[in-house]
Amino acid sequence: MQVEFSSKELFILKKIANAADELQLSCYLIGGFVRDKILSRPTKDADIMCIGDAIQLAHEVAENFNPKPSVSFFKTFGTAQVKLPDLELEFVGARKESYVQESRKPTIEPGTLEDDLNRRDFTINTITIDLSKNNFGNLIDRFNGLKDLSEKIIKTPSQPAQTFNDDPLRMMRAIRFATQLNFTIEAKTFNSICENAERIKIISQERITDELNKIMLASKPSAGWFLLQKTGLLKIVFPQLLALQGAEYIDGIGHKDNFTHTLQVLDNIAAHTNDLWLRWAALLHDIAKPATKRFETEHGWTFHGHEALGAKWVTKIFAKFKLPMNEKMRLVQKLVALHLRPISLTKENITDSAIRRLLFEAGEDVDALMMLCEADITTKNKYKAKRYLQNFELVRERMNAVEEKDKMRNWQPPITGDVIMETFGLTPGKNVGIIKDAIREAILDGDITNDYNVAYSLMLQKAAALNILPVKLKQTQ
Ligand code: CTP
Repeated sequence: MQVEFSSKELFILKKIANAADELQLSCYLIGGFVRDKILSRPTKDADIMCIGDAIQLAHEVAENFNPKPSVSFFKTFGTAQVKLPDLELEFVGARKESYVQESRKPTIEPGTLEDDLNRRDFTINTITIDLSKNNFGNLIDRFNGLKDLSEKIIKTPSQPAQTFNDDPLRMMRAIRFATQLNFTIEAKTFNSICENAERIKIISQERITDELNKIMLASKPSAGWFLLQKTGLLKIVFPQLLALQGAEYIDGIGHKDNFTHTLQVLDNIAAHTNDLWLRWAALLHDIAKPATKRFETEHGWTFHGHEALGAKWVTKIFAKFKLPMNEKMRLVQKLVALHLRPISLTKENITDSAIRRLLFEAGEDVDALMMLCEADITTKNKYKAKRYLQNFELVRERMNAVEEKDKMRNWQPPITGDVIMETFGLTPGKNVGIIKDAIREAILDGDITNDYNVAYSLMLQKAAALNILPVKLKQTQ
């Protein structure tokens, strides 16, 4: 088996081989770079493992480039990084772990190639390419990683319990790789994840979330969430999502399994966008359904208010997952809050005002909202699905017509708070809000046109009703 490198990559790898030769070190290309090359997936960084001092090797490699790249290193871990314009190089010394008696904590010490391969996560990540000058390009495959790559199998090189005990995050990595690559987790490895799931609790939320985001960005993210559920990891890392599972029946009337539905919505949206946040919005759109579930004799199962409560929960979920609490979170919140609104616009006799209101509230995210609504159609009945899609198409047409007429996207009412305060000599306060809201509502309802002079007259009327006079009038009185 010959791994194909680009001429740029070959140029860099030869320089590393020369530097290692200067220092009389053995060094190897390993891990994700080799795996992804064989799979013809794009690669961004390369792991270089050497038998010896990785920091020294990194410096020697840097010396061989012009301009000389900077080397960042971590003395305690014995690792170093060299950023080249086309490739990031990660240097690490071969290690072995040894267990000191009466201590559960392993000590890491320098090891051989064999030691290092033994303590890696999966066989597909142990395929090694020799970079020593004399054996340049030779492929070393001690754990049959190539076979597992071709058979699409995720399997640990050592006993799985040992591998997961060394770093429990690897349980999430197994699921993430299976999802990204569409691979199967080998039975023994899978069972070990089930047995050791509780150990994920010692891993930092940031590392867990990193893996969750990678699962979310896969082409079929539901596969990862189902694996998390089956292994028992989901009830630890995201119990609220698991709470969506199951269909309850009363008087023979059931509701759909919202876990399966949610994951279908996630896959549906993933087929249309790579935007991580739209995918999170899909995952969270029904998150508050269990908390709002009621059985009403006349209507059957209802989930009234799940969209508003769900939007509220987004903040807590983002905080827990250490996801950014910024405009991305507000986008997810907005989409969760508004995800039922376009459906309500598919009914008959919908006024321009209702359309205008949604355009105003969704602002520039209206297309994302419509994408989520379309993804939310998970009925197996083809005719129904087609009808729902056609209805949304009509909503889009109405939106376009209103938008063309009223320009509601990113719309701001023509009278600002500053104008109100200046006109009436007010300081910021309740009355300014009342007048401002009245103008906005009147325009959204279509009671007045979206025009400065018309809005100004309404402002005077509303202020008069509150016994507030314009400054000019006050001065002449
Ligand atoms: N590794 C490991 N255990 C971990 C993390 C990493 O054994 N918990 C090893 C694997 O051999 C892996 C290599 O270190 O291939 C590099 O790790 P990393 O860059 O995190 O992963 P990649 O395999 O390169 O894949 P990706 O970039 O997709 O995360």
